[in-house]
Amino acid sequence: MSADLDLSGFTTLRLGGPATLFAECPTTQVLIDVVRLLDAARIPTLVLAGGSNLVIGDKGFDGVVVRVSNTTVSLDAGRVRVDAGAAWDEVVAQTVAAELGGLECLSGIPGSAGATPVQNVGAYGVEIGSMIERVQLLDRVTGEVRWVGPSELGLGYRTSVLKHSSDALVLATELALHTDGLSNPIRYRELASALGTDEGGRVPAAAARETVLELRRGKGMVLDPDDHDTWSAGSFFTNPVVSDESLPAVLSAIDAKLGDVSVPQYPAENGTKFSAGWLIERAGFSKGYPGENAAARLSTKHTLAVTNRGTATAEGLLTLARTVRDGVEDAFGVRLEPEPVMVNCSI
Ligand code: EPU
Repeated sequence: MSADLDLSGFTTLRLGGPATLFAECPTTQVLIDVVRLLDAARIPTLVLAGGSNLVIGDKGFDGVVVRVSNTTVSLDAGRVRVDAGAAWDEVVAQTVAAELGGLECLSGIPGSAGATPVQNVGAYGVEIGSMIERVQLLDRVTGEVRWVGPSELGLGYRTSVLKHSSDALVLATELALHTDGLSNPIRYRELASALGTDEGGRVPAAAARETVLELRRGKGMVLDPDDHDTWSAGSFFTNPVVSDESLPAVLSAIDAKLGDVSVPQYPAENGTKFSAGWLIERAGFSKGYPGENAAARLSTKHTLAVTNRGTATAEGLLTLARTVRDGVEDAFGVRLEPEPVMVNCSI
């Protein structure tokens, strides 16, 4: 346990402010014991793992920061069990090296394994939810530890019942992977063409991992301490789904502003999904907005990443995010929703 730590070193945005107390939990049992004790004493607790999908306000956190650092990974044929604190990309690398397929499209995603079910992490046409066998949770209301299956997790696009709730803490996840060493079917057009395969084809998992890493690097979506474009929380907004009723108005707003353009849009469960990055760019916020000397800017490689150039404050970064959200809404009538979890701050 240590006191008065600056949390900025623990988030990929390098924002955080101070924390009163910090409890490092290197094993699952320590994690369970510490969280149970804090909960019984009703002490405010912030559970922090990879810090990659988190915006912490400048005032920091007045309570105990619990750092999830249990990191055991065990592979048993296609069944993989990962502790919540394991670094996600190392888990992917380990499975690919063991010729297990399934996780390759989720390569290069920063953060911890325990965060992946929480927001049903996805990339390049694959969501972690499709490979989850069960998740071990600490129920913070009853103090019980139990395993739950994917049907109990309410998994959706970048969400689950675990997001925006502190009722349960992920301790470990069990995944079922392909033992033939081949990837999941490649569903993302950009990835399929980079791999020279048809959409729906399967390729060696290692080849898919390398190509995904290359694509992500090109978009500034692989952490690199020397590259401020990667000092982000990944995509800051989710891709919006427009309902059937609102669709004609949105399309006519796009047409009025941009004329006859091809609009990236995909059928989704409750309507039509648009690309937030595309809308941001077409609303007038180009890559690198608002310009070179700003402490908080959009990434120069991808408009969906809001980045800290080194000296940003959380409030400065959120002001930029608000400007972008409101500008997109004014231009096209589409309200973007933030993807990261906000702690002691809001957009
Ligand atoms: N686009 C632009 N300008 C940009 C970036 C993108 O116009 O600066 C347009 C392009 O038309 C492009 C389209 O947006 O074709 C889609 O862009 P991209 O392929 O980069 O995907 P995305 O929808 O922006 C999503 C996920 C990413 C994931 C990639 C690849 C969300 C919110 N984001 O991004 O996930 O890596 O697909 O699968 O769903 C994350 O969640 O943090 C994340 C990085």
